[in-house]
Amino acid sequence: MHFISRDRAIQWQVRAFILVFLIEATVCQIRYSVPEEMRKGSFVGNVAEDLGIDAKRLKSGGARIVSSDSSEYIRLDVDKGTLVVGERIDREQLCGQTSPCSLNFEMIMTNPMQLHSVVVEVLDVNDNAPVFHEKEMHVEILESALSGTEILQVSATDTDVGINALHGYTLHPTTHFNIKVLSSPNGHKYAQLYLSGALDREKEEKLILTLTAVDGGDPQRSGTLKIHVTVRDTNDNAPVFTQSVFKASVKENVPKGTLVARVSATDADEGMNGLVTYHFNRMSSNVAELFHLDENSGDLTVNGVIDYEENKIYEIGVQAKDQGGQSTSTNVIIEVSDVNDNAPLITLTSFSSAIAEDSPSGTTVAIINVKDLDSGKNGKVDCSVNGNIPFAIHSSLKNYYTLVTNGVLDRERNPEYNITFTAVDEGSPPLSTNKTITLRISDVNDNAPVFEQSFYEADIMENNSPGLSVFSVKAHDSDSGQNARVSYLLIDTELNGNPISTYISVNAESGIIQAVKSFDYEQIKTINVFVKGQDGGSPPLSSNTTIKLNIRDQNDNPPQGRC
Ligand SMILES: *[C@@H]1O[C@H](CO)[C@@H](O)[C@H](O)[C@H]1NC(C)=O
Ligand SMILES: *[C@@H]1O[C@H](CO)[C@@H](O)[C@H](O)[C@H]1NC(C)=O
Repeated sequence: MHFISRDRAIQWQVRAFILVFLIEATVCQIRYSVPEEMRKGSFVGNVAEDLGIDAKRLKSGGARIVSSDSSEYIRLDVDKGTLVVGERIDREQLCGQTSPCSLNFEMIMTNPMQLHSVVVEVLDVNDNAPVFHEKEMHVEILESALSGTEILQVSATDTDVGINALHGYTLHPTTHFNIKVLSSPNGHKYAQLYLSGALDREKEEKLILTLTAVDGGDPQRSGTLKIHVTVRDTNDNAPVFTQSVFKASVKENVPKGTLVARVSATDADEGMNGLVTYHFNRMSSNVAELFHLDENSGDLTVNGVIDYEENKIYEIGVQAKDQGGQSTSTNVIIEVSDVNDNAPLITLTSFSSAIAEDSPSGTTVAIINVKDLDSGKNGKVDCSVNGNIPFAIHSSLKNYYTLVTNGVLDRERNPEYNITFTAVDEGSPPLSTNKTITLRISDVNDNAPVFEQSFYEADIMENNSPGLSVFSVKAHDSDSGQNARVSYLLIDTELNGNPISTYISVNAESGIIQAVKSFDYEQIKTINVFVKGQDGGSPPLSSNTTIKLNIRDQNDNPPQGRC
């Protein structure tokens, strides 16, 4: 398509040309259009035909093209009388965004001088895609940002014009972000990227968005921009313990520093917001002294003496804190297990320090209580008594034992017993305790006095003085105290019709036998004395002895006659 019109600017140029050469000339203007980027030699227009000039005239007139910038975009084919593309025409290089884009030149001939103004409009071809200034961009946004927050504005440029120019933008994906396509005052379209949903760094920390700019050409061309979105953390997560409750057990008496439990919490946030430290929570001070909690590792260690007998279970509140001010609490339950660290304890609940030797078998001597502070087998106690003694131990009630006699007692043989109780627990190794009591056997009058001899014989000179001690007897009683205190009594007999007591007396205390009067051999030659030894028991026991006293003759009578 071509058309002819007047162009004032060209006219003035032409006039200037004419004035310089002072030549009268025909001035016509002719107009063509050609798409940019046509191959060299491509047909632009048939000037000879369009100007009604014979092809021979072109030749004879030496027709040529004169342009102010001496470019060679368009050449004249003098033989054919046509204008053709002389070199590659890039509309964008030539005119930029100016539209329309025209090449203005003159075709000049001599003999006679003729001047024709030619305008070739270069038509745009969609040979440029929209281009972003950068291929990639990095942006950061807080995860707490509100929906609707603007992230950035960005635009692409498309050097083509008209319908081939930038047409619009699309975004992919649009799960969290979207765009608004806006126009600047000079009509340039740009994209405003905004947050269209909620972000969660803990779920998605990095997103890649592709912003595509498209033009309106056919085929359509496009350019893309990759937007790397980094979601920045906010402290929107509290620490979470890995267990709802921590359970542990520890033996009592373990050394300081023994690890009891390790608490652990995670925090989905990052940096300081996710840095967790551990602290004791609502705890009595004595428990705080018994355990140590490492702030960073969560290691709970022993820091004092753990005594099962004092406390069998500890419940410790532990708090996990992040450095952004969020915290969570949990409990650590520590069961203390028993170690056999307590020996049994023996307590004498009731005890008679002495029992009578005639006590029947089964008589209760003592009641003892046995305790062990440990638990389980460590606290299970068995109690026994030592050796070969006539005593036995029975368990009546739990933890109570009764010591009873189980044989014959005889004070005269065993006046006291040292009885040793042994209480042994079932721990491993077992612990035991001994307790010794001394039991006295009290006397019962079960022994009669025994005379050293059951029969005595002694001599006594006649004419003794009255009151003379003539003999003594002795009886022993193996009982004790009153039961062993022997009194001597003269058993009543007669001698020559007189009571024996008129001849002889016995000292009740000492057993000394005295003559009551002077004896005369010529009247009494022998005196038989019966003495009873009696103890002080109740009832008393006694035994007898016999003493035969022989009266010895003295020459106390003159001869009756001489033979
Ligand atoms: C009992 O123990 C005491 C004190 O150790 C001791 O003097 C006494 O002889 C002991 N008695 C017996 C019968 O072993
Ligand atoms: C001691 O002598 C008295 C009087 O003769 C007699 O009754 C008694 O049975 C005797 N006792 C003993 C133990 O011999």
